[in-house]
Amino acid sequence: MASNQREIVFATNNSHKLSELRAVVGDRLKVLSLADINCHDDIPETGSTLEENSMLKALWVKEKYGYDCIADDTGLEVEALNGEPGVRSARYAPGDGHDSLANMKLLLINMEGVVNRRARFRTVITLLTDRNGRQVVDGIVNGSIGIEPVGCNGFGYDPVFLPDEADGLTFAQMDTDAKNLISHRGRATRQLLTLLEHQ
Ligand code: IMP
Repeated sequence: MASNQREIVFATNNSHKLSELRAVVGDRLKVLSLADINCHDDIPETGSTLEENSMLKALWVKEKYGYDCIADDTGLEVEALNGEPGVRSARYAPGDGHDSLANMKLLLINMEGVVNRRARFRTVITLLTDRNGRQVVDGIVNGSIGIEPVGCNGFGYDPVFLPDEADGLTFAQMDTDAKNLISHRGRATRQLLTLLEHQ
């Protein structure tokens, strides 16, 4: 049977982000991956803000492939580090970037002996559609940075991030649904769904 489900591309190569977003979206949208549309590009993230980077990624897909699409950019903002790593979260440790273990290790080194461990994750999602042009939503979760990594679920900085609403658990100790309920990306995705419901 043919499906009337609206299709949208999520411009990410991160399978964790894709499954988190799909878990929130459920059957309200058909979320295609970059592989689904045969896009194997290394999409540049050269912006200086989360907003710019999410826009760059969404534009790349819309202009080159023609699909309605969404793209997110996420930063971990640590109070004692003046908001770092922020927009550089994926490229915090020296090297080619996207080495999550190296990024997390560097963060823990830079936080050694630091008493103020307050931090937050912020996600910006850009939605680009033929019908409504560009729309932007964001989501924030407040928490703190642990002393050492705990838990093995999730990805990225999850083992060292303790959300305020999780009673001392790190994101990496939570399953996808529990993380989505309180996370930056879960919150931004629910706003996105609200936007799309009215289109
Ligand atoms: P980007 O949005 O893919 O550029 O992500 C920036 C950095 O933050 C990457 O190193 C990711 O691994 C990390 N990151 C993004 N979202 C999350 C999350 O939900 N939990 C933990 N780390 C994340």
